[in-house]
Amino acid sequence: MADKAGDLFRFPEAPSSPPPEFDSAFRRHFLELLVWRRDVRRFRSDPVSDELVRELISMARLAPSVGLSEPWRFVRIGSPARRAAVRENFLACNADALSSYSGDRAEQYAHLKLEGLDTAPVHLAVFVDPDPDQGHGLGRKTMPETVAYSAAMAIYTLWLAARTHRVGVGWVSILTPKDIVRALDVPENWRFIAYLCVGYPAEESPSPALSRAGWEQRSEPAGFLIER
Ligand SMILES: Cc1cc2nc3c(=O)[nH]c(=O)nc-3n(C[C@H](O)[C@H](O)[C@H](O)COP(=O)(O)O)c2cc1C
Repeated sequence: MADKAGDLFRFPEAPSSPPPEFDSAFRRHFLELLVWRRDVRRFRSDPVSDELVRELISMARLAPSVGLSEPWRFVRIGSPARRAAVRENFLACNADALSSYSGDRAEQYAHLKLEGLDTAPVHLAVFVDPDPDQGHGLGRKTMPETVAYSAAMAIYTLWLAARTHRVGVGWVSILTPKDIVRALDVPENWRFIAYLCVGYPAEESPSPALSRAGWEQRSEPAGFLIER
């Protein structure tokens, strides 16, 4: 049966019992989801339905958050003027980034496509409330940055959920947080986490665009595990 956006999102607060089995076929499929997720910078023009956008944000809320504070705030940007302000900020930041490289790296950087701001039908900015009442401060006393980590978890949840609908997400961070707060007219104390371009990808690949462009390669997994 086709999924109807929303059907999948009868919140599992009262889960059906017994708990679901995640079998080897599911694990294989899940691995494919991780492998094919991709950061997307080139989008087709087809719209993403409002219903699906709402469903993706609802699914993002299933992410873990410090003290169950749910500090994430998603801002959907429809205004052409606000989108233009974000784009202008990106162009300035990107020019600045380019100037920090020299020689072949600069040449290579200049050819990278690092945003899909012109073509993505949906723009979502993600902020955190740095000190929300929700959660009563649990887990944040010694590590206040955990609110930002929580938002990153929500973003990744949305990213994977989007991919299951063939929708792609591109994370843009080449921006100045204070200018984005101003351009989007959100509370000044909110911390900017990410600007997400969302839409149907114009191309698919199981490998990162940056590795295909020769900018960087994935490392061997062994290097990430340190035993003590
Ligand atoms: C915190 C964060 C910030 C990122 N910022 C940018 C960005 O500004 N522009 C861009 O093109 N990609 C950005 N990316 C995407 C990464 O370049 C991408 O995840 C990485 O190259 C691996 O590719 P993949 O996501 O397709 O596996 C960002 C990703 C993360 C997690």
